[in-house]
Amino acid sequence: MNILVTGGAGFLGSHLVDELVLQCYNVLVFDDLSRGEKSQVNPKADFVEGDVRDSEKWEKLCNAFNPDVIHHLAAVNGTKRFHKEADLVVDVNVNGTRNAIEFAQKYNARLVFYSSPESFGEQEKMPLSNHSESVFPPAHLHQRHSYGASKHVGELLCHFAHRNGLDVRIVRPCNVYGPRLHGNENGQVVSIMLQSNPIIVHGDGLQTRSFTWVHDIVEALVKVGQIEGLSGHSFNLGSTEEVTILQLAQMISRLRLVNVEYGEPNFGDSARRIPDVSGNHLIDWVATTKLEDGLNQLL
Ligand SMILES: NC(=O)c1ccc[n+]([C@@H]2O[C@H](COP(=O)([O-])OP(=O)(O)OC[C@H]3O[C@@H](n4cnc5c(N)ncnc54)[C@H](O)[C@@H]3O)[C@@H](O)[C@H]2O)c1
Repeated sequence: MNILVTGGAGFLGSHLVDELVLQCYNVLVFDDLSRGEKSQVNPKADFVEGDVRDSEKWEKLCNAFNPDVIHHLAAVNGTKRFHKEADLVVDVNVNGTRNAIEFAQKYNARLVFYSSPESFGEQEKMPLSNHSESVFPPAHLHQRHSYGASKHVGELLCHFAHRNGLDVRIVRPCNVYGPRLHGNENGQVVSIMLQSNPIIVHGDGLQTRSFTWVHDIVEALVKVGQIEGLSGHSFNLGSTEEVTILQLAQMISRLRLVNVEYGEPNFGDSARRIPDVSGNHLIDWVATTKLEDGLNQLL
């Protein structure tokens, strides 16, 4: 079976590719290396460098590889970029997804679309479920939700394609952490806290998140691509351990012996983000790694 992984040189994609290769699939990675790294791509996978907005590239590689499943991960990611580079975020995330849908349709492939809990914006009613509404503040205040809105539009396009016969599944990974996570200023909160000194907590630190160990989540991602009869389903893939950003900072500061300080709040940081995981029985999956254990392994 041939599996195409866009964004397969990035954090999550490279771990997914490792597992797919281990399970003996033929894997092709399609990535422009804007954030991913070639050295992270499993040597047993093929690699094409290119932009997911480029439909000629899609045509060429689909024609040669004939994918049975497409995992579409390529996207502009990194919280600080959402406000700073809102135009690029929308362009890559929406137009890349339009191409993924078009070529999945054309080559009769199953599509797994990588959305995000950010697609619900600042929804305060928890847990975030497949029936939660997306809540976005007025756009003139800030453009942080360029990312969440682009993922919401991606979901909308996937459901439209499903209505027109495409086998498409949606996943919403929740704050995944593990080896290879980006640690620069555009990185994710765990990797920033693992590298900065002092550790900065933005705002009062009482905002909560669900942190999910990468090896737990990869198991779910593979199943979502494999199991028959899941078209049109969305999966909230996360740990149900609700942790405040302050607790996370304190855990990491204990492990690294560095101080915690408070900084400016980030634009549009939602107060809580906890997934409704009740639909995950369809893939027989729960996240099992406790945050403290995952952080210990990572360090
Ligand atoms: N990591 C998480 O916690 C998390 C949570 C929710 C959703 N997601 C989604 O999962 C996917 C992967 O996330 P990640 O954390 O691995 O991010 P990442 O930035 O590490 O990976 C994204 C990959 O896409 C590539 N890319 C970016 N723009 C491209 C373009 N125009 N053409 C081709 N390739 C391009 C990058 O080079 C990178 O390798 C993304 O769609 C993200 O929105 C991740």
